[in-house]
Amino acid sequence: MHEDIQEVLFSEEEIALRVAQIGAQITKDYAAAVERDGQGIVLVSVLRGAAIFMADLARTIELPLEMDYMAISSYGNGAKSSGVVRILKDLSSEVEGRHIIVAEDILDSGLTLTYLLKNLASRNPASIEVATLLRKKTLEQAKIDCKYIGFECPDQFIVGYGLDFAERYRNLPYIGVLKPEVY
Ligand code: IMP
Ligand code: MG
Repeated sequence: MHEDIQEVLFSEEEIALRVAQIGAQITKDYAAAVERDGQGIVLVSVLRGAAIFMADLARTIELPLEMDYMAISSYGNGAKSSGVVRILKDLSSEVEGRHIIVAEDILDSGLTLTYLLKNLASRNPASIEVATLLRKKTLEQAKIDCKYIGFECPDQFIVGYGLDFAERYRNLPYIGVLKPEVY
């Protein structure tokens, strides 16, 4: 695995530190709402890439919360967006009146998230915010209001810490650029 990586962008330690900062910020931002509502926030992860980020993020948020999962697909097994979004798995819980935080692994074109946010908004939650670990600096990025951003990253194909290429490399503890000859 490691030999397919051209360059490490964010180390395991850097990621842990940044995730903890985001968790602390979320704890601060939602403490009053959770106290007032008497119910916790709902963390929604977009499978499969964001599951690792959400698992780590959840453990840095010091408030009651639920974890739920959605699977949508905008990519095939390759490296380019197809622009086609499908719901493969829906949430298990009702989110009406709840505070939702969507955890995303990476925002590229934003196609996936635009669709997801529209879909979630139609269920009348109390609020929706987005926490993305990475945001690519791309020109065609949709105007998405993203409250929590881990790192800005270059417009290269990257893997690790949940991000895959053809379902591989998700278990790398760091985030790195894949060697072009691999894909
Ligand atoms: P978007 O709809 O173009 O924003 O793509 C979002 C999804 O594409 C992410 O949730 C990832 O699963 C995948 N993706 C985008 N860029 C990369 C990358 O560089 N490496 C791995 N997956 C990526
Ligand atoms: Mg994904």
